[in-house]
Amino acid sequence: MKFIDWFLDRFRLKTSHKNIFEREIPEGITYFYCFGGIAFTAFVVCLISGLFLTVYYIPSEKEAYNSILRIHEEVTFGKLTRGIHKWSANVLIISMIIHSLRVFITKSYRPPRELNWMVGVLTFVIVMLEGFTGYLLPWDQKAYWATVVGTNIVGSIPIFGEEILLMVRGGYDVGGATLIRFYSFHVLWLPLMLFILLWAHFHMIKKLGISKPL
Ligand code: HEM
Repeated sequence: MKFIDWFLDRFRLKTSHKNIFEREIPEGITYFYCFGGIAFTAFVVCLISGLFLTVYYIPSEKEAYNSILRIHEEVTFGKLTRGIHKWSANVLIISMIIHSLRVFITKSYRPPRELNWMVGVLTFVIVMLEGFTGYLLPWDQKAYWATVVGTNIVGSIPIFGEEILLMVRGGYDVGGATLIRFYSFHVLWLPLMLFILLWAHFHMIKKLGISKPL
């Protein structure tokens, strides 16, 4: 106990805990106010399980599918880690939708929280893109054709559609270049954007507090 006390004191964890967890919350809030926190927990689980998956996943046209099979059948706890990654992603998306509905229904998007609502909308788009880019990675028939259809929608944008489609796919067809592009966005670019957006989200929640129920 002495060691733990010493460690917490030297790390200044006792005070920062207070900052994070001991906040005033308005009277009359319901369990629906928990869904932002549930979404964040699912995000952390997704992140950790994803980090383990990157150790074995190979983002190449020839190896991607086999590396998924290897994770599933040979790697210790590989099947479990994949399952946790998939289900935490589902929980993240569902709880984020419920959280947005709660914010909408309680009119918490009104000033002074309108900027946080906008940050939330951007977060929503980035999380959906995480789902879309991750879907291609197993590189099986379902993933391939879902991406063909999904990216075709981008191609139908007026005027710049073809240029954007080329940029998204890295060529005219969905192929190796698309896979590497999606992998890079899935594990680097989009999570980085999410870190920044969530930091801004939580910063504003900390400063403005949670809105009083109607
Ligand atoms: C990964 C996604 C998200 C996470 C982890 C997250 C997390 C949180 C948390 C923990 C809170 C504190 C209150 C609560 O839990 O209800 C909150 C509040 C808020 N969120 Fe989110 N959020 C996310 C997405 C969104 C989205 C998509 C929107 C809107 C489109 C949004 C808009 C807001 C607003 C306006 C507040 C302030 C609400 C109030 O003060 O009552 N958030 N968020």
